[in-house]
Amino acid sequence: MTTSVRFSNPRTSTKKRSASSWSDTGTATEPTLLIMCSSFRCRAGRPSARAPELTGSLWDKEIDDRRTMRELTDRVAVVTGAGSGIGRALAEAFAAEGARVVIADVDETGLGATAELVRALGAEVLAVPTDVRDADAVDRLAARALAAFGGVHVLCNNAGVSRMGNSWEMSVEDWRWVLDVNLWGVVHGLRSFVPHLVAQPEAHVVNTSSMGGLMPAPFIAPYTASKHAVVGLSRSLRLELAGTAPHVGVTLLCPGAVATAMDPNTPRPGGGPEDLPPGAAALAEHVRADKDQGATPGAVAAATLDAVRENRFYVLPNAGDFLDVLRADFEAVLAAPTD
Ligand SMILES: NC(=O)c1ccc[n+]([C@@H]2O[C@H](COP(=O)([O-])OP(=O)(O)OC[C@H]3O[C@@H](n4cnc5c(N)ncnc54)[C@H](O)[C@@H]3O)[C@@H](O)[C@H]2O)c1
Repeated sequence: MTTSVRFSNPRTSTKKRSASSWSDTGTATEPTLLIMCSSFRCRAGRPSARAPELTGSLWDKEIDDRRTMRELTDRVAVVTGAGSGIGRALAEAFAAEGARVVIADVDETGLGATAELVRALGAEVLAVPTDVRDADAVDRLAARALAAFGGVHVLCNNAGVSRMGNSWEMSVEDWRWVLDVNLWGVVHGLRSFVPHLVAQPEAHVVNTSSMGGLMPAPFIAPYTASKHAVVGLSRSLRLELAGTAPHVGVTLLCPGAVATAMDPNTPRPGGGPEDLPPGAAALAEHVRADKDQGATPGAVAAATLDAVRENRFYVLPNAGDFLDVLRADFEAVLAAPTD
């Protein structure tokens, strides 16, 4: 399947000229990003003659979803946040496919346990204690992976944490911690590893966001802000790689609830006892009570590996219940005044 992403300028309105216009020549001034999915290399239309300067622009990329990495045997997969939950399940799933696995986490005990599980599957494993907030540490992780295995084929930016509260009341430390792990951890992973992925004949990036990265949710603003950011940066990354290194695929993992150790109000190192406002406390209680109802990490990992093999961008395990919210959200965007 080919997804054609084309920057075009189909409007012909002369009513108003946008200050942020990308075009100086046409009467149609507001850019529209058209994302057209077709079953097989079907590109609906060409850029308008009104905006020839946009032809071949950065947006005019075909994303060749037919490129696949069906064979994971002997590939090298790096997984952050692998000491628990989805990251551990990803490490095990890659190992079960015969991949060599590099696992990273701040939790050295959890990391050791995952290493044992991966070894028990007969796979080679390199465990590197790593704080993804630290760019140098992630650089060292990449260096260790390359030294051990000579290359990296799959990068899973998966480590994540969450803090709860009213967005305006949460401490700067809480905001910073969540953004540092969930957003900067992904940025560091891309900066340290993508140059090495590009050097492979085929490679793949998996960024773990969440349904919280696609839809609104109260009392976890640092989490939703960071996860929306991961959605945005993954979309940009996908466009960039489509233009410069189309042999590197991108998958955006946005699970609904998953039964892991993750707490919606993850204790922050050095943070005090939990002190949530009533709404947040009620939501935390609800999420904790329902925790075991989520998808298994193994099911999420299996869906992710399928997406890597088939080079699919969106993976939304256990997210069916949220589709109505997503739809209503998009409809509200589309219904907003645009003049
Ligand atoms: N569990 C869910 O319901 C759910 C839903 C959607 C998305 N997610 C996302 O999935 C990812 C994995 O979460 P999980 O549910 O497996 O949680 P988890 O708590 O079981 O695992 C997260 C891991 O990240 C590690 N980590 C935290 N800070 C780190 C840092 N600075 N550097 C390196 N590692 C660090 C933790 O030690 C832990 O081992 C997260 O990004 C999370 O936001 C989880």
